[in-house]
Amino acid sequence: MVDFNYFAPTEVVFGSRSEEQLAMLVRKYGGSKVLVHYGGGSARKSGLLDKIERLLREGGVEYVMLGGVVPNPRLSKVHEGIGLCRREKVDFILAVGGGSVIDSSKAIAYGVPYDGDVWDVYMQRYTPVTCLPVASVLTIPAAGSEMSESSVITNEDGDVKIGYSNNLSRPKFAIMNPERTYTLPPYQTAAGVTDIMMHTMERYFSHDGDMNLTDAVAEALLRTMMECVPEVLRDPENYRYRAQIMWGGSLAHNDLTGCGRIGDWATHQLEHELSGMFDVTHGAGLAAVWPSWARYVLKCDVSRFVRFAVNVMGVENDFTDPEGTAVRGIEAMERFYHSIGMPINIRELIGREITDAEIGEMVRKCSHGYTITQGQFKVLSPEDLTAIYNLAR
Ligand code: NZQ
Ligand code: ZN
Repeated sequence: MVDFNYFAPTEVVFGSRSEEQLAMLVRKYGGSKVLVHYGGGSARKSGLLDKIERLLREGGVEYVMLGGVVPNPRLSKVHEGIGLCRREKVDFILAVGGGSVIDSSKAIAYGVPYDGDVWDVYMQRYTPVTCLPVASVLTIPAAGSEMSESSVITNEDGDVKIGYSNNLSRPKFAIMNPERTYTLPPYQTAAGVTDIMMHTMERYFSHDGDMNLTDAVAEALLRTMMECVPEVLRDPENYRYRAQIMWGGSLAHNDLTGCGRIGDWATHQLEHELSGMFDVTHGAGLAAVWPSWARYVLKCDVSRFVRFAVNVMGVENDFTDPEGTAVRGIEAMERFYHSIGMPINIRELIGREITDAEIGEMVRKCSHGYTITQGQFKVLSPEDLTAIYNLAR
């Protein structure tokens, strides 16, 4: 077990009446003029934005609005938000949406007090020392950004998608009303759960596996997500299952399932290149890559994959053939992905064969011009990254 700091300062306000507390929470965390930041229209269509405007008005909180955040949020929208916040003297950012809107909000929050270009933060040319407070009204359980220290932004200039992590940007509060997720299309529901599970799996596949409590929490979370997703695909307005998925999304990425170990995160890095280049849904991209990553790294610790196969995927343990058991666990995950409409390779993800040149470009970006490795479970060189993309094609 490795030493760890566990820091999860976000106030979670969960339930069907949680939105009513909005104005009180904004004031509690120091907001007097709010940027309400949102996406492409789902929050307007559902009536959520109208309700938020009403709650802020009734609560005596001033606000300005900025919509138009797209999935895989763009740097240009972040620049627009920074300009608006400065002009309007905004002191608090409220994200209404999912990971893309929250990440765009975090980037704006870094950018407002910084004189240079906020892209410097993502390129690690500048370390922020302060940022505006951020909070969210979550509408899709997936990225876990509502409690995480991370944000991922795409610079359209070169289609580069880069994440940055800093505790400064951990949201002050997260309002989570499972009813708001009833309108999610099946694909977004399934991709969201895939991302939630992957946040746990990235932490689970580690060589610091002597933290049985953390393992047990992670395994329970993974099994619960797998039980819930078919239920909500069948019955989108099932509060009980929607609620468990929503809470699971936060627990999966607030580091609870990673205490005592160093996570891997190679699948995420491999995926960020796919969504940066092809603008695909992040969770679906993860499903397209993970089985190939798993097969490629399996031999680094077969017993870890056996535990996953047995405790998570319900595979019978064949003690005479540990590797066979481990592989059957990966195959079971592939069947699960297909059962919820997720791809298991890049062809299924983008609808065509990927080219060698495209793989080469992704490897170049993923290895920062062949200067860094990725992953911890197996440290991956650019050659390894190429091999995994080829397995996944
Ligand atoms: O834009 P609108 O119209 O709101 O539509 C969104 C969007 O098209 C729609 N949606 C959201 N809530 C809805 C809804 N549609 C109907 N009803 C609702 N209640 O869903 C689509 C996807 O939204 P998005 O915010 O992109 O989803 P997600 O939460 O999966 O976020 C993905 C982004 O987060 C990043 C990903 O890379 C990706 O850019 N990540 C951020 C992380 C973090 N900050 O900690 C970690 C993750 O690993 C991930 O990398
Ligand atoms: Zn993710």
